[in-house]
Amino acid sequence: MKRLMKWIDARFPLTSTWKAHLTEYYAPKNFNFWYFFGSLALLVLVIQIVSGIFLTMSYKPDSALAFNSVEYIMRDVNWGWLIRYIHSTGASMFFVVVYLHMFRGIMYGSYQKPRELIWIFGMLIFLALMAEAFMGYLLPWGQMSYWGAQVIISLFGAIPVIGKGLSTWIRGDFVVSDATLNRFFAFHVIALPLILLGLVVAHVVALHEVGSNNPDGIEIKEHLDPETGIPLDGIPFHPYYTIKDLVGVVVFLMIFSAIVFFAPSFGGHFLESNNFLPANPMKTPPHIEPVWYFTPYYALLRAVPNKLLGVILMGLSVVIYFFVPWLDRGRVKSIRYRGKIYKTALALYVISFLALGYLGTCPPTPIYTMISRFFGVFYFGFFLLMPWYTRIDKTKPVPERVTK
Ligand code: HEM
Repeated sequence: MKRLMKWIDARFPLTSTWKAHLTEYYAPKNFNFWYFFGSLALLVLVIQIVSGIFLTMSYKPDSALAFNSVEYIMRDVNWGWLIRYIHSTGASMFFVVVYLHMFRGIMYGSYQKPRELIWIFGMLIFLALMAEAFMGYLLPWGQMSYWGAQVIISLFGAIPVIGKGLSTWIRGDFVVSDATLNRFFAFHVIALPLILLGLVVAHVVALHEVGSNNPDGIEIKEHLDPETGIPLDGIPFHPYYTIKDLVGVVVFLMIFSAIVFFAPSFGGHFLESNNFLPANPMKTPPHIEPVWYFTPYYALLRAVPNKLLGVILMGLSVVIYFFVPWLDRGRVKSIRYRGKIYKTALALYVISFLALGYLGTCPPTPIYTMISRFFGVFYFGFFLLMPWYTRIDKTKPVPERVTK
């Protein structure tokens, strides 16, 4: 075995890579619950790719065959129902995990210097993930697939001068059609997964360059053992965090399996009832709503009477996260040492995000629209007022070394 490793190492940096990223990558010893979600996001990415490959073996990207090919997978392909439910549950769980992962980043100021690029790569991943989910949703060619795509692509039509041409170009036709299905299939199964994988590698490389943040928001590299040069508050990622992450994986898979086996449509939130009807271009469903993970942005879109302004506001509600590293003027990273103002702002942001998520599923009645506007103001207020309230917030003294 030793001789084999020597032979490989002379030709490929196997041992040095293993050491640099696992056994000699020193992570802060105080990671908590919130640090499970990075490795869980990696797990879901793998689950989606593997289940996706098996679905592609029986799926037909043709508007005349797509819906029936999904029914065929569900009824006739051996274990096809399981593969499909794993993939559809995986899509929603990906967003659950990524939203919690992003929230951890916000809570502990993990986007602050020197981790701005980790955050930017993360945001690019998030955009790619949204595109991946949106395009995947068209593939079963159900009523909601069809009309959801129709609504979202037509939004580009609101852009002055080029809008109409742009939406026709995206669809490849004047309405969502076979051409749209074919190109979405190409993007969903190969282009976007490749982009996602590349971005995830960049994300983790950037993380390992600067080292992980932690719930105290302290730089462990500032206190090194004078003899070994190892951070005093660091522990090797392997075996300590590989084992700890495995606990997260087991608990996550228990929840995941419970959904797959007992509630795959999750009350119509993971798979919508309208999508069990084949797409019908002649019949618009009375109530078109996106899957839950897009509803906060959809609520903001509908809160604005002007279509173009609504589209801009919806775009801004996602793009604004890119700027958080520069909007935050706080002197501390972690929420543990922030003052009351920041904690209140963060709580209001969470409430507004959840409320907008709910409102995005409601019909656009005047009262719901008014409530969406109300929460929209708090949502944007969290970001736009950040330079101000993080500066005046009374922070607590940060300890020298990690606490627990
Ligand atoms: C496919 C999606 C993603 C994967 C596989 C992924 C993977 C990871 C992993 C493995 C870590 C290290 C473990 C941990 O800190 O939990 C990490 C850290 C981090 N990620 Fe992600 N990530 C993803 C998406 C995102 C997104 C969307 C953002 C934010 C916009 C983000 C921001 C961060 C930040 C700031 C850190 C450093 C956290 C710290 O050191 O405290 N990630 N990511």
